Amino acid sequence: MKRVIYPGSFDPPTNGHLDLISRGAKLFDELVVAILRNSAKTSLFDVNERLEMLRECTSQWENVRVESFEGLLVDYARRCGAQAVLRGIRVVSDYEYELQMAWMNRKLDSTLETVFMMPAGEYAYLSSRLVCEIASLGGTLGDLIPASVESRLRARLGVAPQAPR
Ligand code: PNS
Repeated sequence: MKRVIYPGSFDPPTNGHLDLISRGAKLFDELVVAILRNSAKTSLFDVNERLEMLRECTSQWENVRVESFEGLLVDYARRCGAQAVLRGIRVVSDYEYELQMAWMNRKLDSTLETVFMMPAGEYAYLSSRLVCEIASLGGTLGDLIPASVESRLRARLGVAPQAPR
């Protein structure tokens, strides 16, 4: 049984995250989406809301489950029985940060592998931060996030999309 963890903040989940989940779920027997419980970081959605959103959006994959974790990723991976961590690389600038984390995780647990995958090219510029910024300014998000996430996001921000001019 090859199990991989896909960790992150997912605040909120985007179609880029879902694209990576779909790719990872084809390569591994089981993929665990793991939302970091991080009290030091302010988030737009609390962990339970992110769990709900991700569970809704990933229900079509039988080998995907969504959990949350706190503490070190390597410890969570061990508890989960995962052999690998999946991370997305969109652009070269992601690589530096990702490589540093991957090296450090390897230092902490030399048996845990990190697997990098690219999302579809149309999501190469997509991030949760930009999604929040665009929504808060009344921009349209089109096919960048699931419709269910978009309605929660607009409700949270109290902003309706602007009519096209
Ligand atoms: O979506 P993000 O915010 O880029 O995800 C970062 C995440 C959750 C993968 C990273 O912060 C993490 O693994 N945190 C857990 C604590 C930990 O293990 N830190 C050492 C990493 S080398």
